[in-house]
Amino acid sequence: MLSFEVLRALLATLVLLLSGVFAQQDAPKEWWETTVFYQIYPRSFFDSDDDGVGDVKGITAKLQHLKDTGLEATWLSPIFSSPQVDFGYDVSDFRSVDPLFGTNEDLEELFVEAKKLGIKIILDFVPNHSSNEHEWFIKSEQRIDPYTDYYVWHNGSSDGMQPGERPRVPNNWQSVFRGSAWEWSEERQQYYLHQFAVGQPDLNYRNEKVIEEFDEILRFWMQKGASGFRIDAVNHMFEVEDFRDEPINDPSDPLSYGYTHHIYTKDLLETYDVVAHWREVMDEFVKENDVDTIIMMTEAYANMTMTMKFYESDDGTQQRAHFPFNFVMIEELGDASKASDFKYIIDRWLENMPRGKVTNWVLGNHDKPRVASRYGRQRIDGMALLVMTLPGVAVIYNGEEIGMEDFRDISYEDTKDPQGCNLGPESYKWASRDPQRTPFHWDDTFNAGFSRAPRTWLPMHPLYRQTNLLKQKEADCSTYKFYVDALKLRKERVFTHGEFRSRAYNDDVFGLVRFVRENEQRTLDPFYVVMINFADRTHTVDVSDLYRFSGDSATVRLIGTESRHLVGDVVDPSALVLGPYEAIMIGHADADADDDADADGSAGVKVTTDLLLFVIITCNFLLIK
Ligand code: NOJ
Ligand code: MG
Repeated sequence: MLSFEVLRALLATLVLLLSGVFAQQDAPKEWWETTVFYQIYPRSFFDSDDDGVGDVKGITAKLQHLKDTGLEATWLSPIFSSPQVDFGYDVSDFRSVDPLFGTNEDLEELFVEAKKLGIKIILDFVPNHSSNEHEWFIKSEQRIDPYTDYYVWHNGSSDGMQPGERPRVPNNWQSVFRGSAWEWSEERQQYYLHQFAVGQPDLNYRNEKVIEEFDEILRFWMQKGASGFRIDAVNHMFEVEDFRDEPINDPSDPLSYGYTHHIYTKDLLETYDVVAHWREVMDEFVKENDVDTIIMMTEAYANMTMTMKFYESDDGTQQRAHFPFNFVMIEELGDASKASDFKYIIDRWLENMPRGKVTNWVLGNHDKPRVASRYGRQRIDGMALLVMTLPGVAVIYNGEEIGMEDFRDISYEDTKDPQGCNLGPESYKWASRDPQRTPFHWDDTFNAGFSRAPRTWLPMHPLYRQTNLLKQKEADCSTYKFYVDALKLRKERVFTHGEFRSRAYNDDVFGLVRFVRENEQRTLDPFYVVMINFADRTHTVDVSDLYRFSGDSATVRLIGTESRHLVGDVVDPSALVLGPYEAIMIGHADADADDDADADGSAGVKVTTDLLLFVIITCNFLLIK
């Protein structure tokens, strides 16, 4: 017979194993919740047909780069038909790929190839405006229905108008790219609104038909295989109906965008209902077609309150974007920021997130100086490590993985960006976005391996022989290798599901920890501590001021290129020495977890199989008895 003691021991083990299962089984997360979105600027990624401009086939040809790096999602700046006044953000046909970039078939092939590699493709969706060469605009100018009211038209002001004179502009609204936001149409004898370039007339979102048009465009691309949309300039969609003047902000330059406070042309509350509506269109498609979640990420340079509203309505009943881009790393922090600034800005963001929503951290994009130029070369790895280890999604811009820098010295003749050109030869340099848009550096051959054309659309950065992918792949230690390792570690449960805590040690050192609580004895819990020294001085820190774990040693798991340590080094956590600009990760993963423990909680799965084995053995044991 089975003795009472044996039975009790068996039961105790069962309870222990079961508690393990419950502790380790994490809530499953959707594909997008823990991923890194890699922005590709197609004009500058890879040129497959040697015309000096990157294209869709070029992206397909280089998908393996994403795969090798460990990237599983990418968002593409627009590749649709466009006169390229604003480099694709002036779309003349939302359903077709511009011949400059290839064909619709090329894009469909990209979807297919990306799917094979497990890479999701997000398209840029530009609803605020179209090109003035779009059929809708051409017909609207001619007052052909139903297009007559597709755009924002105005008679202009007749104040002080002499007979035979053209009316004045309707109000004091300025374009983001400088100068009045109104352009006269000879054809229609009215002004049209353009918050961006003259070639980008603003669509009229008070017209239901415009919203419907975009519903159809979304469905069209979802059908083709898009996994999501990045919504461009979303907070510019509505303007007040009575077109009143905006209050003056900076009277010194009446032509600049900063001249007025944009309270009547930006962040209007009507915007959020349209976003919620598009969310419904996407969710409905997912449901009807039984496909993975299709996500929406919104682009709005707005304050935190208005940005957070893009998640959901205040009462939580209306769902909106999956996430609005969080631009604090671009707009609020920089090379002069102290560790306490990082802590304050990050905590403030996390504390203001609506409950249960996924946060995100955008490191860079095609509109802002590159991270190497904003934060300084030595801080590249520190910033990368930060966005890779903070909770939620990270969004990075192509070229950041090799630490590309801005090419600020592009001549005025070579400058293409309207935001630069509109300022003239004296002042274009600092306003132009071309410096961060120069072609990707694949290797040290002609044109950095980007194109074999004699001239590329923007000049190559002259230092591409120093900074290029091939060189960084061959080096023992490089920003690229750092990214690859960080992306790998990021897949561990500690990062996908772990808790977060941070500390500003002094002006220079920012520390953060991610950990999972699952052991009776807390000191056994898996954790990773990240320490970033943002300055040119050495510091010695005590890790336990941030996080207490067992033992008097810790292992180095990841190092930035500025680090004095080596991966595998055993360090004293009570006196961790950080050299200038050092970025380092120490800690231990879950001992039980498989090497490739992933977001769906494979550690939990392993315990479940253990449990099954236990039950079988017990049954056998009982049967034999
Ligand atoms: C934001 C885009 O990122 C930028 O490049 C563009 O100029 C404006 N929206 C207008 O579409
Ligand atoms: Mg090309």
